Amino acid sequence: MLPFEITTKSEEETLQWAKTFAKTLKIGDAIAFYGNLGAGKTLITRGICQALNYSGTVCSPTYTILHEYPNDPPIFHLDLYRLESNSDLEEVGLSHCLESNGITLIEWAERLENRIGITHTVHIEILNDNYRKIIVQEKNPEQP
Ligand SMILES: Nc1ncnc2c1ncn2[C@@H]1O[C@H](COP(=O)(O)OP(=O)(O)O)[C@@H](O)[C@H]1O
Ligand SMILES: [Mg+2]
Repeated sequence: MLPFEITTKSEEETLQWAKTFAKTLKIGDAIAFYGNLGAGKTLITRGICQALNYSGTVCSPTYTILHEYPNDPPIFHLDLYRLESNSDLEEVGLSHCLESNGITLIEWAERLENRIGITHTVHIEILNDNYRKIIVQEKNPEQP
């Protein structure tokens, strides 16, 4: 389980990186994204969806918390920004996503109190207007 790290210099470079990263994913994977507003969480999500051949719109489900994109494999896109407690996570249906043989992408994973089921973390740091440091780590989904 090797972490890897990249610094991108533009939105396009991050998008390309996201598509490459997507190729390493498999059914059942759940990726937790960490990073401030404007870091690039939604952009990377969009790149992953494109690489999984989903051609519809991908936007942050901030108000609805969860979008399920009809695709093969199904893609679950969550944005936990508005959540405060772990109890809400059940209402949101995170466990349903994790059990559904799809790919689950979670923005604002800082809100998760329990990371069981998460297979990768992606931390995005804003270095300046156009530079982003991206750190990916695989994790054992059985550990919190
Ligand atoms: N290297 C980069 N990687 C990703 N986004 C970048 C980069 N440079 C600038 N940006 C800009 O940062 C913003 C990222 O937005 P978004 O993906 O919605 O962030 P988040 O979902 O983390 O709030 C976009 O406006 C994008 O154009
Ligand atoms: Mg977003």
